Amino acid sequence: LPTRSQADPGCLPAYACQRHSPLNHHNLCFTEALDTLAEAAGFEGSEGRFLSFRRAASVLKALPGPITSISQLRGLPHFGDHSSRIVQELLECGVSSEVERIKQSERYQTMKLFTHIFGVGVKTADKWYRDGLRSLADLQGQTRKLSRQQEAGICHFEDLNTLVWRHEAEAIQRVVEKAVRQVLPGATVTLTGGFRRGKLQGHDVDFLITHPVEGQEEGLLPKVMDLLESQGFVLYRHTQSNHYQDLKDPAQSTSLFDAYERCFSILRLPDPTAAFRPEAGEEPCRDGKAVRVDLVVAPASQFAFALLGWTGSQHFERELRRFSRAEKQLLLNSHGLYVPGKKESFPAASEEDIFRHLGLEYIAPEYRNA
Ligand code: CTP
Ligand code: MN
Ligand code: MN
Ligand code: MN
Repeated sequence: LPTRSQADPGCLPAYACQRHSPLNHHNLCFTEALDTLAEAAGFEGSEGRFLSFRRAASVLKALPGPITSISQLRGLPHFGDHSSRIVQELLECGVSSEVERIKQSERYQTMKLFTHIFGVGVKTADKWYRDGLRSLADLQGQTRKLSRQQEAGICHFEDLNTLVWRHEAEAIQRVVEKAVRQVLPGATVTLTGGFRRGKLQGHDVDFLITHPVEGQEEGLLPKVMDLLESQGFVLYRHTQSNHYQDLKDPAQSTSLFDAYERCFSILRLPDPTAAFRPEAGEEPCRDGKAVRVDLVVAPASQFAFALLGWTGSQHFERELRRFSRAEKQLLLNSHGLYVPGKKESFPAASEEDIFRHLGLEYIAPEYRNA
């Protein structure tokens, strides 16, 4: 459903949360190049450059048609000289020499490899790079201490870097739902993240769990994970309890991190043949594919904010928060929407309530692929 703003790219709004960003758009060759430059800037810790390229890429994802001439960039928000030059190069030559040079560099390739290990961020990857490490074999042949998470990440590297299909996410959802209901009848499990935005494949599976009676959900995850473990599904788990009450100022946390009870896990996919033998139930397969699964538990009163925060995309979330702060002087995070200095959140029963309170047109999850 193109908005009026999309029909006239000259008026494309500046914030991604004011635009429709469908999963399949018309400018993939440009957005891939700009997202690569953003990623590479992120590897160098250049937050400003990261955001510039990321915002430019995001603008192109919301255009109603392909860019065919450089003149079409005129008037688009967030298109500086550098991003424009990349688009021009791609229009004229089909490739960007700068992007190709980066993609072929040892630095980029190694940082990409290392940051694709579960439990390894840019800082760790950079340290390893500066220490001369270049491959997984280099890491394994080392005496240095890896975290338990990194050990699991290296152990399951191949599976975790194979995309998860929607039907696999749904199979995991059935297993998780069954365990959650057994531990806490009435609790619900919602698929969030990329799959809620309509993606057919993802790098992990994200679930949000809640219960209609506030407080019932507390301490649910350790029990659910124990049950899943006893069923042979758990390859790695790290559970944190809810620390919302410990936050001095709940509104201060406008980063992408929240204080919910959560578990970052690696689960084994259930046996795929179980789908054809419903009477056999969901028996785990001894060597089923390893999949990254994020489980988050929110109390009912914060569910809408958690759902909005965990549906993404990450850039869409970042833009929502930037819009709230800069345009509405309100602080938004995955727990609530606050007037600065106040502890009480504006109440919201749905995502629509939150968009409405921000004075934004409601954007359905399928159009949050910014
Ligand atoms: N998120 C978060 N806190 C984290 C990790 C993620 O709030 N510690 C949010 C992200 O901001 C994003 C959503 O959870 O909005 C899903 O994140 P992620 O699984 O990393 O990405 P997806 O959009 O699901 O895409 P992918 O297929 O790569 O998983
Ligand atoms: Mn995800
Ligand atoms: Mn991701
Ligand atoms: Mn995730």
